[in-house]
Amino acid sequence: MPLNGTHFKNLCDIDLRISTFDVASIFKNMTSKLPNTGTSIFTTMSQRAAKHGALNMAQGFPDFDVSQELIDRVALHMNEGRNQYPPSAGIPDFRQAIAEMHSHHFGTSHDPETEITVTSGATEALFSTITALIHEGEEVIVFDPAYDSYEPVIELQKAKTVHLKLSDHDFTIGWQEVVSAITDKTRAIIINTPHNPTGAVMTDADMLALDKIATEHDLIVISDEVYHHIVFDGAKHRSVLQYPELAKRSVAIFSFGKTFHATGWKVGYVAAPKEITAEIRKIHQFVTFTTHTPCQFAIADFVRNPSNYEYLPDFFQKKRDIFLDGVKGSRFEGSPASGTYFQLLRFDNISKESDTEMANRLTREFQLASIPISNFFADGHDASYLRFCFAKEDNTLEKAAEILQKI
Ligand SMILES: Cc1ncc(COP(=O)(O)O)c(C=O)c1O
Repeated sequence: MPLNGTHFKNLCDIDLRISTFDVASIFKNMTSKLPNTGTSIFTTMSQRAAKHGALNMAQGFPDFDVSQELIDRVALHMNEGRNQYPPSAGIPDFRQAIAEMHSHHFGTSHDPETEITVTSGATEALFSTITALIHEGEEVIVFDPAYDSYEPVIELQKAKTVHLKLSDHDFTIGWQEVVSAITDKTRAIIINTPHNPTGAVMTDADMLALDKIATEHDLIVISDEVYHHIVFDGAKHRSVLQYPELAKRSVAIFSFGKTFHATGWKVGYVAAPKEITAEIRKIHQFVTFTTHTPCQFAIADFVRNPSNYEYLPDFFQKKRDIFLDGVKGSRFEGSPASGTYFQLLRFDNISKESDTEMANRLTREFQLASIPISNFFADGHDASYLRFCFAKEDNTLEKAAEILQKI
């Protein structure tokens, strides 16, 4: 068949040529909705790790497997035929099990019917929440270094991200600075505790300050709490859900990927007051509609036994300490992470390179991949920190520490 004067030998050739012509002409008239967004630093560093055969302490996922019991439960529910669409908000028994976990863990009570929504990971929860609640022209305060899922979604709403910085020293929020940044356009504050990438955990005093500011200025709080089970040294996670006034204006976001070492399953959820939940569900139904059915049934069974998550603080604290003990005496410095499975190490004693140059050199010359923290700052602020994920087998942590001792 002639097409633009060319004869094609078979259908496959035609398909290729049509797509090349069309894409080229379509792109000329197209503006990106996210012009500043490229490949994430996690993907970039993982690719470099693979290229140089490096230990990958860059990307935030465990190198050990999900509990066999949980895997067996997914298989069981699949084999028993629970494979079709569940309700959009999540299967009722799963939402009930989540409400029970919150009651056990946070001492809160939610109506699972109207206040809990299962999502395809926290990423989808963040997308559906920000899309539902933030409007064009509004401002949203985030704290740098910030996880990379917030700003692009705010930008898609044609809203503005207002970046404040955590302190370089102990990664705390300057509440007075927050008050000064609030304008009549400010609609929401996004917090993340325990915090990726710094490992900082917000205190009761932080939550009370947030409560006061959010109430006085009538703001929504979006609280990313995906590492809520992972806190160390006897620290307690503080959830926005535990502060009754704050909870009335807050959306709390969680992920079972982190809790059950199953980041690839993408099962998360949102807890929010009824009216806010109703708006989030309107978006959620057109993003994913719902989430993998057998995983919901399996996690509902599993989460009802608190011993399946209560071991996490000790388990990860031991890993953090293996890594930090191994690094002791090296020229890297860092205060122990209070939560998450990330440890920051500072290298300004060693080199005046940028954090990106240092991370690249570590990967290339020493076969150890990490994440340079300047990537989490809108203005590229570089305080010579690298992030290491310690959700790894003990011998991986020991090997990584040995490498750092040589530098
Ligand atoms: C702070 C934070 N929020 C959200 C997410 C996304 O979680 P999920 O994998 O459940 O989408 C992550 C994942 O690394 C994270 O670190």
